[in-house]
Amino acid sequence: MLESLIAVTDFLTPAFSERLKSRLNDKEKLLYEAVEGVTFAEGNWYRPHHNFIVTASMLSLCFWEGLDRNVLMPAAILHDIGYSALKISKYGADWNSRDKRIAHMEAGAVMAADILKGTASMPAEVDGVERVEEIVEIIRTHDNCYIGEPYETDNQLYHRDADRLYVMSFSSFYKDFLNYLDTGKITSVEDYLLGRGLSFYNESKEEVVEESGNYKYIPFTLMTAKRLGDEQFRQRTEEINQGVIDMHPEHFAKYSKDRLLLEADWILSELS
Ligand SMILES: [Fe+2]
Ligand SMILES: [Fe+2]
Repeated sequence: MLESLIAVTDFLTPAFSERLKSRLNDKEKLLYEAVEGVTFAEGNWYRPHHNFIVTASMLSLCFWEGLDRNVLMPAAILHDIGYSALKISKYGADWNSRDKRIAHMEAGAVMAADILKGTASMPAEVDGVERVEEIVEIIRTHDNCYIGEPYETDNQLYHRDADRLYVMSFSSFYKDFLNYLDTGKITSVEDYLLGRGLSFYNESKEEVVEESGNYKYIPFTLMTAKRLGDEQFRQRTEEINQGVIDMHPEHFAKYSKDRLLLEADWILSELS
């Protein structure tokens, strides 16, 4: 099933990216294409789709919440480019690898600074050195919650919202579930959904951080992110009720394709 999911995601993502790029400005498009131009190790097969979801999510957060697109969009587009400098051999995310988290943020910050400073359509008088610095700083710190470090600025938290809207997206949710199933850490998709729900719907940021010492479980900051996240939980619940995990692999492949297409339509419809 994981193989079908990978194949369908890989097949559809270029078309999704083209649709998204038609909504980006010239500078954002250049940056998006810079990320499309790098290659990721096999274990990072989902990077292009992650980038599609995070960039599209950030665009809708900027639209609905009136955020600073000039800082947040370049950060969203470039934030995980540092993974291209890392060698990862196994499928899926290894959420607990602290070294990997730090390494991809550090490498990404250096790569992003080079790209931003070399982007002709990013004139200094508009975006300026401080802007590049803020973008690079968001990238250098974006996974702080996984290494027990706090976020200092609102823009860092807004970026976290967009990055987090990937977790419950179709491809991400089932890839993680299938990976966990493989390791025997989890046996039912219902339990898995419940666990995800607990990590998304906590009482308050402060309480959670205080109790667990873990910034990983901070809830969404923006109401739009919460609204989009709620809709993702509704979609995953519907699929599980429809028996997605018990499907014959061939049916699962077809079903995944349909759901990914619906999801892209939904995400892109949020942009205007
Ligand atoms: Fe990251
Ligand atoms: Fe990310």
